Amino acid sequence: MSEAISSSRSLHRLLYSSRQKFGPGVDVDAEVEAIVLTSALNNALVGVTGLLLAHEGWFVQALEGPAQAVMTTYQRILNDPRHADSRVLSAGPAEQREFGDWDMCARRISATDDAILTTLAQRQAFDPTTLSAAAALRLLKTVAGIKQRTTRVA
Ligand SMILES: Cc1cc2nc3c(=O)[nH]c(=O)nc-3n(C[C@H](O)[C@H](O)[C@H](O)COP(=O)(O)O)c2cc1C
Repeated sequence: MSEAISSSRSLHRLLYSSRQKFGPGVDVDAEVEAIVLTSALNNALVGVTGLLLAHEGWFVQALEGPAQAVMTTYQRILNDPRHADSRVLSAGPAEQREFGDWDMCARRISATDDAILTTLAQRQAFDPTTLSAAAALRLLKTVAGIKQRTTRVA
């Protein structure tokens, strides 16, 4: 196998943040749910898994899977008018999937999500423009852990 083919198939992870751009009166929960439904279908077809966090007007998303599939998916997401100012926090090879349980799952943070709020409390206000790649991954993994616990209980 050539190096190019091998690297396009190996596991990659991309983390980005962006600003939500929903018009006035738009039901954000319904929009995010629609995004997740579309994502679950598309991502399953190309082996992409991930997590989408929607919080205080921001999105933070992890996409992981074969490099080519992750980049194609991210390019499509970039053109979506429901967000803007996308900033890649990290992109590159990954040892293992951190969000392998979900083709895409979305999460909003509620006051009862103590662990997430603790992670976020490292900043006075939630501002992904100053979030490091490591902090973003930690945040999304915390979100994923809480999602898993709530799923198990439910
Ligand atoms: C924040 C955000 C995250 C998204 N994540 C994904 C995703 O993981 N996978 C996906 O297929 N589409 C995702 N979408 C939706 C895509 O932008 C796009 O609307 C969808 O893939 C359908 O594309 P198409 O109309 O070109 O078929 C996301 C959109 C937004 C705004």
